[in-house]
Formats: sequence, structure tokens, C-alpha cells
Amino acid sequence: MLNKLANLHKQCFPDHPWSADEFADLKKSGCEILASDNGFIVWRAVADEAEIITIGVAPEARRQGIAEAMILLMEQELKKSSVVNVFLEVSEVNLPAKKLYEKCGFIPTGKRPKYYNGTDAIIMSKRI
Ligand SMILES: CC(C)(COP(=O)(O)OP(=O)(O)OC[C@H]1O[C@@H](n2cnc3c(N)ncnc32)[C@H](O)[C@@H]1OP(=O)(O)O)[C@@H](O)C(=O)NCCC(=O)NCCS
Repeated sequence: MLNKLANLHKQCFPDHPWSADEFADLKKSGCEILASDNGFIVWRAVADEAEIITIGVAPEARRQGIAEAMILLMEQELKKSSVVNVFLEVSEVNLPAKKLYEKCGFIPTGKRPKYYNGTDAIIMSKRI
């Protein structure tokens, strides 16, 4: 399963793919992973907050609502816990991801200048 996940991650992030071992480490460190053949989302919840660590959908399966559905499923899981706030970081130039998060109700709440190779990261948050 983790090898499949690593393959999928490589399709989504060809410049910095994560290995199966890295996914195993994420699980060991307390991250939750929701994955299918076409997509994955990884988050970490601590006390009343959760962070989306990464999300990706295979290129050929995009614009079919898969990422939106995964975020919804994650939120349904989190609502069973003490989490009331979800946040994430996204590159300011990643338009598909920014639009996705906006559609899911996330709003910009901060900025990390020059976070990704000289590009600003936007912090987005949502109360659930
Ligand atoms: C960002 C990503 C996860 C979106 O996955 P997806 O399954 O295609 O997204 P969805 O089909 O659920 O789209 C939901 C909404 O997001 C927005 N959106 C998604 N892709 C978009 C694009 N290419 N351009 C503009 N808006 C987009 C739209 O509002 C869309 O709703 P609509 O189709 O009704 O207009 C996918 O493009 C991806 O894997 N990108 C590479 C990895 C990445 O950048 N991950 C995010 C890191 S922060």
C-alpha cells in the first residue's frame, strides 16, 4: 500500500517525491492517511488543531471532485475528535490547490515569505 502511495505521490510531486519509508515514518509520527488508487490526503491532528500535510490526485483523475471529497471525508473524521481548526500551507503560485482550498471554505490567515524556493507560502485555515 505504501509503495502505491509513493508512486502516486511521485506523479503529483515529481520534483520532490516521498518514498514508502517516508510515508511509514509519517504514520509512525501520528499522521493519518486516506488514500485510494487515484488520490491521497495526509493530516496530523494535535489537540484542537489539524494540519493538512499533503494532498494529491493522479493527473488523469483531476477535476472530478476527488480532492474535495477527500477533504470532506477528513473533516468528517476530525469532527469526531476535539479538532475545531484545520490549517495548511500552499504555495502562492499553486492555483489549482488555492482554488480547491477556497472552494472547501479555507481562508488565508497568514503568509510565510520565500518559504518554497523563494516563493511565498500562504497559510489557510478553516473552522470545522
Ligand atoms: C490540487 C489537486 C489536489 C486538486 O485535485 P482535484 O481532484 O483535481 O480537485 P477537485 O476536482 O476536487 O476540484 C475541486 C475544486 O478545486 C478547484 N480546482 C481544482 N483544480 C483546479 C484547476 N486546475 N484550476 C482551477 N481550479 C481548480 C475548483 O474550484 C474545483 O471545483 P470545480 O471543478 O467544481 O471548479 C490536484 O490538482 C493535485 O494533485 N495537484 C498536484 C499536487 C498539489 O499541488 N497538491 C497540493 C499541495 S498544497
